[in-house]
Order: sequence, then structure tokens, then C-alpha cells
Amino acid sequence: MDTEDKTNRHTGPINGFTHDKIERHTGLMVVLILVVISFGGLVQILPLFSDRALTEPLDGMQPLTALELEGRDIYIREGCHVCHTQKIRALRTEVERYGHYSVAGEFVWDHPFMWGSKRTGPDLARVGGRYSDDWQMQHLYDPRSLVPESNMPAYPWLFYRDVNNRHTSRKMQVLRRLGVPYTDEQIESAADDVAGYTEAEALVAYLQQLGTAIPRR
Ligand code: HEC
Repeated sequence: MDTEDKTNRHTGPINGFTHDKIERHTGLMVVLILVVISFGGLVQILPLFSDRALTEPLDGMQPLTALELEGRDIYIREGCHVCHTQKIRALRTEVERYGHYSVAGEFVWDHPFMWGSKRTGPDLARVGGRYSDDWQMQHLYDPRSLVPESNMPAYPWLFYRDVNNRHTSRKMQVLRRLGVPYTDEQIESAADDVAGYTEAEALVAYLQQLGTAIPRR
């Protein structure tokens, strides 16, 4: 009896290959699967690099000032991003609570992004201008004096520490290399621009501009 018939497999050649061969050689199959997946990935990812809406800042947007930039670094140092996101999703519940959903153009100069993923406290993407500077200062000094049920930590040390301006210019130079359009004048005057401010003042300056590139409704 003919053994070939018994197996009942498809053994016909496909351009010199057979499906059979691929299925029996795991290494070859892995390589071919990777090739197929890479094409899928490229088709999804490559067009994003040339989409203006995703790579260009919003009209009229300004890079962070030296003081706001130092405030941002204090925000990172103090771990504010561990409890607060900076990204409003395009969901009705979020838009009604926080304002216009976040758009890509708002973040093109954000290195690194402060999107976050954990909301112990509210999203801060559009907190700029929602409260007065005094409210923000008091809230940082003692959150429970304003919101009794708050579990946000107090940050009293930010009020007696001055902003360290030793690296402000250098930071701006690095950001310029990453595409943030700082001018030579801004970089030169950076250290003077932040001199004498407390860390709390820098942090509040940063908070007060968050999300303001899109006007509040
Ligand atoms: C342990 C989690 C936690 C950390 C860390 C934290 N927060 Fe909060 N934050 C909260 C909670 C909870 C609230 C809501 C209650 C309140 O307003 O105090 C809040 C509220 C706020 C608000 C008011 C937001 C609004 O829309 O009402 C601001 C602004 C804020 N936090 C800024 C900061 C900054 C800046 C830092 C870092 C210095 C920080 N938070 C660190 C938990 C946290």
C-alpha cells in the first residue's frame, strides 16, 4: 500500500516551498511570523511620524518658561505624577469633569510625558487657572486646610527652599536639542529668571499653565 496516501497531507509545492515544510521547521516558521508581524507594525506606526496633528505643537503654544520648567522638575522629584495623571480621555465623564480631552499637539515638547496611569487624586491636565495662586500655595502647604478629606501629602519644605538655578540653562539647551524652540536669550537669562523664587512658587507657576493651550469653555 502507498504510504503517501495514508497521511492525507497537502504536499503540493507553493513557489517551490511547501506548507508542510514550514510547519515542520519551527525556526523557519518563527522567522516568517516575525516578517508578517513587522509589516503589520510598520503599516500602523510609520504614518504616525508624518501626521502633523501628532507631531506639531498647537497654534500659539509657548514652551515652558525657565521658572515653569524648574517647577516641572520639582513636580517629578516630589512624585506628584504617582497620584496625578495629566491626560484627559475622550470620554463624556472626563470631559465634563476636567474639560477638553487631551490632544497630541499639547505634549510635543513634554520630555518626558507626565501622562501617568494612576489617579489617586484628580487629573491635572487642565488645572491651570482653575484655582488662584494663593489657593495652590495653601493647598501645597497643607491640603487638609482646604479639602478636609484629602489624603494628599503636605509639602512644607517647598516654601523655604529656593529654586536651584545651577542647571536651568543647560536643561533648556538639552530640550532645544530635542526640538523645543528656546531662543538664545531665554537660555542665557534662565538662571537669572528663576533666581530668588521658592520651589513652591516654581511648582505653582508650572501648575498654572497646565492645559491652557486650549481655552476653557
Ligand atoms: C498620595 C497621592 C497624592 C500625591 C503624591 C499628590 N497628590 Fe495632589 N491630590 C491628591 C488627592 C487625593 C487630591 C484631591 C483632594 C485635594 O484637593 O486635596 C489632590 C488634589 C490636588 C490638586 C487639586 C486638583 C483639583 O482639580 O481640584 C492639585 C493642584 C494637586 N493635587 C497637586 C499636586 C502636586 C503639585 C503634587 C506634588 C507636589 C501632588 N498633588 C501630590 C493626591 C495626591
